[in-house]
Amino acid sequence: MIIKHDVVIVGAGLAGLRAALEASRNYDVAVVSKLFPTRSHSGAAQGGIAASLGNVEEDHIDWHFFDTVKGSDYLGDQDAIEYLVNDAHPAIYELEHMGCPFSRTPEGKINQRKFGGHTKNYGEGPVLRACFAADRTGHMILHTLYDQCVKNNVRFYSEFYVTDIIVKDNIIRGITAYDMEGGEYVAMHAKTVMFGTGGYGRAFKITSNAHANTGDGLGVVLRAGLALEDLEFVQFHPTGVYKYGILVSEGARGEGAYLINNDGERFMEKYAPKLMELAPRDLTSRSIQTEIDEGRGINGENCVHLDLRHLGEAKINERLPEIRSFCRKIIGIDPVEEPIPIEPTAHYSMGGIPVNVDGEVLADGKSQKVEGFYAAGECSCVSVHGANRLGTNSLLEAVVFGRRAGKTMVKFLNAKGVDKADLPEDQVKASFDRIEGFKTRTGEEKVGTIRKELQQVMMTKVGVYREEKGLKEALEKVRSLEKRFEKIKIDDKGMKFNTDLTEALELDNLLQFAELIVSGALNRQESRGAQYRRDFPKRDDVNWLKHTIAVKKDGKIQYDYKPVVITKFQPQERKY
Ligand code: FUM
Repeated sequence: MIIKHDVVIVGAGLAGLRAALEASRNYDVAVVSKLFPTRSHSGAAQGGIAASLGNVEEDHIDWHFFDTVKGSDYLGDQDAIEYLVNDAHPAIYELEHMGCPFSRTPEGKINQRKFGGHTKNYGEGPVLRACFAADRTGHMILHTLYDQCVKNNVRFYSEFYVTDIIVKDNIIRGITAYDMEGGEYVAMHAKTVMFGTGGYGRAFKITSNAHANTGDGLGVVLRAGLALEDLEFVQFHPTGVYKYGILVSEGARGEGAYLINNDGERFMEKYAPKLMELAPRDLTSRSIQTEIDEGRGINGENCVHLDLRHLGEAKINERLPEIRSFCRKIIGIDPVEEPIPIEPTAHYSMGGIPVNVDGEVLADGKSQKVEGFYAAGECSCVSVHGANRLGTNSLLEAVVFGRRAGKTMVKFLNAKGVDKADLPEDQVKASFDRIEGFKTRTGEEKVGTIRKELQQVMMTKVGVYREEKGLKEALEKVRSLEKRFEKIKIDDKGMKFNTDLTEALELDNLLQFAELIVSGALNRQESRGAQYRRDFPKRDDVNWLKHTIAVKKDGKIQYDYKPVVITKFQPQERKY
């Protein structure tokens, strides 16, 4: 089957929906999602969306700019960060006017809370910058945008799994997908395609990410021979529920929660005396892991405590109701009465599909555009987060750059018209054959076993702390898993809701870019942001103040680099 639209957006999270909303004011827009849209992972972002509105105390766009640059360990591109912080105000007010139910101050303004790495006066101390809707901020924005898209007649294709992009002569022609409910392979023919396909936390054993977060967009792009940027930078959120990885929002620490080790110490005093629990995530995760590694984990286990008790029941119910609810349901702990055991959890990918500030995909990671192809949100790398993202800047990035990509697509269609270049049948067939080919593999390997081994090695050797020996072992392991993957067996030969098949397709993607994460980490011989090399513990601006660009040619990774855009803030030593 061939489906035609002016614009096809893959991914129904905040970036995809915000772009869809923008483009649907002028054009016929389809959103393709492997889930029902409101189950997209943006809905799991709890604590807030950053904007220096100054509703509760003095704040400035320039402070937000500085904090984001410093938080990125100076790898963020400052031209893009300027768009992020400047567009934050209109982006939030637009959401408010669409009906997003933000929490309010007593006088009725959007309320704001503290978050890691967000400071007043260029680092003096924490500032109230994160706009929030209790601890359901992503959920509320997602529902608001979905409502608006429905109102604008955006066409949703839910439970469609993207399998390939179709590009010829450097012009995007559409995508292929597996319609899980309908039980068929489909081609979607479009003049413009945008990816808002999200992150890849599921490459790791402990993750805050939903099961769906398998980085499919990255796998598709890599297979198409396009570049990926800065994949070595994987953020570990400091506070995942011990053993489960479920996010306990930084908003909890923003409201005043403490981190406590087995000796009852607020240990962040040693690592970040000024910001304490509100230091940026890379530093806080490393501090927690150090406490654990040095034997001060709770009862010798791989966790420390997040203590909310002093906040009191009323505040927890008002500001952090979701956390209280899932802690009671999942681990049988009421945070009003007991501290929560937590450990760092794989949370966010700073790297991704290279794009310029207008959301246009750069095939070579530098300047060569793929006509009509766009990306925004976590799957992309613009790069506003550099080596380490500040909390609440991801929802902001998704909304700001989703909106920008939507506007760029409209401009492109206004200029070029909606007539589509041909959809090459041979490429569509090759894509369908590839999917079908998975079903006919004859080995005995199980997808679930390979995935589990991948997640384990990524967690233990490519996590918060890294070093050469472990990275080399991890690389060897990932490559051996890729070989074993060729011998998988898919038991379900049917077409309807074949989760055996989708899990194999997901694992194929995970394996492809996991190799880039590991080899990128091995390649980068320095510590910067979320990449901490025990064997290279210092940041090295002389050799490594640059972005990694990686492509896969004939199964081999080729590296290239591009400079960081520095406009206002020169790299400095990073102290908190
Ligand atoms: O901690 C949190 O609420 C997560 C927010 C984020 O990743 O930006």
